[in-house]
Amino acid sequence: MERPYTILSCAASVDGRIDDTTPERLRLSNEADFAEIDELRAGCDAILVGAGTVRADDPRLLVRSQLWRERRRDQGRTEHLVKAVITRTGDIDPGARLFSTGDAGAVVYTGGDGVSSAKERLAARPSQDPPAEVVDAGDPPTVGAILADLAARGVERLVVEGGGHVHTMFLTSGLADELRLAVAPFFIGDEGAPNFVMPGAYPYNPDAPMSLVDTRSLGDIAVLRYCLKAQN
Ligand SMILES: NC(=O)c1ccc[n+]([C@@H]2O[C@H](COP(=O)([O-])OP(=O)(O)OC[C@H]3O[C@@H](n4cnc5c(N)ncnc54)[C@H](OP(=O)(O)O)[C@@H]3O)[C@@H](O)[C@H]2O)c1
Repeated sequence: MERPYTILSCAASVDGRIDDTTPERLRLSNEADFAEIDELRAGCDAILVGAGTVRADDPRLLVRSQLWRERRRDQGRTEHLVKAVITRTGDIDPGARLFSTGDAGAVVYTGGDGVSSAKERLAARPSQDPPAEVVDAGDPPTVGAILADLAARGVERLVVEGGGHVHTMFLTSGLADELRLAVAPFFIGDEGAPNFVMPGAYPYNPDAPMSLVDTRSLGDIAVLRYCLKAQN
């Protein structure tokens, strides 16, 4: 199957939490890490998150640096990435900021009853918003169907920015190429806080681990880069 080169990017506490339980967004990165993530985004064609992240954070999913946006424009690309959202139910807020910002449009991957539900919701968007399309990626949607659709749209590099359910889906699928994990120097210690990943059948286990290809420190943040081709 033709699919984009897929990079998973996540920031977690030492105890593996990607948020706390307060309504405010938890800062798990520093400026240097944010700048690297922005560069990572700028080198990709599409960015994907789960509906849970949209509901929790209402992210815009933009390339922040003007320099990177100009470089993309000079290369004949859009300044921003195609934005992709995964939802099983189709319960997606048409007023979410990711739909009203950027210049490359959005795709909502869903399936079953989620298709009509998402279409109905997106129809409520203002006409001046960038285009947004609903794609049936199976019931339930699969990583394989989503990646095949993105590849057909010309997406060669995809960055997946969470949350935990989506990282679990991609990691257990075995269809991702790279994991960039930023580890913040503290614990959350709250069992109600979202985890980086859920229990599941991961192809990377003690007998077939991932390969650690880079480790760096950005201030107190440790950045680990793993190649997701299991080693034997
Ligand atoms: N630190 C970081 O790097 C980082 C990054 C992003 C997010 N976060 C945090 O992560 C938390 C959200 O994580 P999360 O795990 O709750 O949400 P998530 O992974 O962003 O999204 C979960 C949603 O994805 C949909 N979904 C799950 N499996 C699916 C499947 N097989 N097919 C189609 N859709 C599927 C469902 O949407 P429906 O319910 O609509 O069906 C599900 O509710 C927030 O607290 C956010 O702040 C942290």
